[in-house]
Amino acid sequence: PNAQLTIDPAFRVAPADRRIFGSFVEHMGRCVYGGVYEPGHPSADRRGLRRDVLDLTRELGVSVVRYPGGNFVSSYRWEDGVGPAGDRPRRLDLAWKTIETNEFGLDEFMTWASEAGVEPMMAVNLGTRGVTEALDLLEYTNHPGGTQLSDLRRKHGAEQPYGVRLWCLGNEMDGPWQVGHKTADEYGRLAAETARAMKMIDPSISLVACGSSGRGMPTFAAWEATVLEHTYEHVDYISAHTYYDPSDGDRASLLASAVDMDAFITEVVATADYVGAKLRQKRKLKISFDEWNVWYQSRLQSDLDRRGWVEAPALIEDDYTAVDAVVVGDLLITLLRHADRIGVACQAQLANVIAPIRTRNGGPAWRQSIFHPFALTARYARGTVLRTEPTGPTYETRRYGDVPALDTVAVHDEETGELAVFAVNRSSQDVPLDLDLRGLPGLRAEAHTTVAAGTDPDATNTEADPERVTPRDLTTPTVDGGRASVLLPATSWNLLRFV
Ligand code: AHR
Repeated sequence: PNAQLTIDPAFRVAPADRRIFGSFVEHMGRCVYGGVYEPGHPSADRRGLRRDVLDLTRELGVSVVRYPGGNFVSSYRWEDGVGPAGDRPRRLDLAWKTIETNEFGLDEFMTWASEAGVEPMMAVNLGTRGVTEALDLLEYTNHPGGTQLSDLRRKHGAEQPYGVRLWCLGNEMDGPWQVGHKTADEYGRLAAETARAMKMIDPSISLVACGSSGRGMPTFAAWEATVLEHTYEHVDYISAHTYYDPSDGDRASLLASAVDMDAFITEVVATADYVGAKLRQKRKLKISFDEWNVWYQSRLQSDLDRRGWVEAPALIEDDYTAVDAVVVGDLLITLLRHADRIGVACQAQLANVIAPIRTRNGGPAWRQSIFHPFALTARYARGTVLRTEPTGPTYETRRYGDVPALDTVAVHDEETGELAVFAVNRSSQDVPLDLDLRGLPGLRAEAHTTVAAGTDPDATNTEADPERVTPRDLTTPTVDGGRASVLLPATSWNLLRFV
């Protein structure tokens, strides 16, 4: 029998928050230098911002961009990156064994964010630093003027405060690799003190406490519980990070990565709600899923081993395949499905470093395979997320056991009446799907767009062949009596649009 999917506007999850379509710019590898910023590049503007990357960022539909790290932030001094370029110090970046020139800093990032039309999301250093430096940074960015640091910002050319609304209290502080790594109690107390003081300067900001850097961390869940016992009343989000590694070649499991992300979200929500109940808090926290992606992690160590201290080396510049694009599309479906508890999500990272956008120094910029499901989801997932419960075949995976072949979510725009259905077929067989749309009478199908990996799963987009993996339009289905049928190609991500 065909797989079945019923879509009904009564099954509301929550509005799809635009902040789910976030990205991440870290001072890592060539994300900043040679990525978003390259003075002297043919497309660079007078400030050194690459216009080709700005154009692709806008096309990607990114809403919010986290900066400046990542692991980088945990030994970063933000004031190194402001003021006259010639006065900025060269420093050792311990996170990535790199020389940081500080040519690009806070003010350059804010200019870039405004050009890109994205909301900035800043992280403060809670590795080597603490409350004072976080307050200084907030005074520089958000205070209107009349104090030393707000006037310093004005002297640097930014008359108006940047008004940064979203702040991460450190990064991955549960990880032993983190500079200034802490126990959950040590971090929880520092994060609570920092949060309380930051909200004294600007009560309108939203704060993110560090959750676990992965569901597989030995401290996972206990970390969240302890950190939130210290911070619950002072923060708005708990973070989650996850990367799925295709290195072992187990494609069937890789394609089911969203099963793991789904369970991770459910567990973080359960832990946050447990602490909320224990502390008698009515307010529910949301998750800031501020790092997620596919990452061939086995390549990181060799990247770091092969050199000494250098400027902006190529680090983890993964070439993404058609299969990786299907996985990324499915991770976005999962984030949307939890729209009631996911308030922010940032794909890591934006340019070159495990990124949808690739560049060559002095050369072109191009779209990786994973660019496409992101851009189409950001463009068409507008309105209210609707709960879907598809039936269909299952298949066996080594990592997650028996998993459903289909994963779906629907987003309904009540204002325009448009409906977008996102569907992944994880299996290696084509799956015929019957849609029941009787709950939304009068719709007609507008398009069926797919990124399919079935025939060429390892295809990648390269500088020489940048369009090898792109979305294709399939035959538009007919809606008859509120019902339609489509064929979801083997190993594919699909967007069905109805108007
Ligand atoms: O995105 C790459 C790195 O992955 C980030 O710096 C860190 O937070 C995570 O471990």
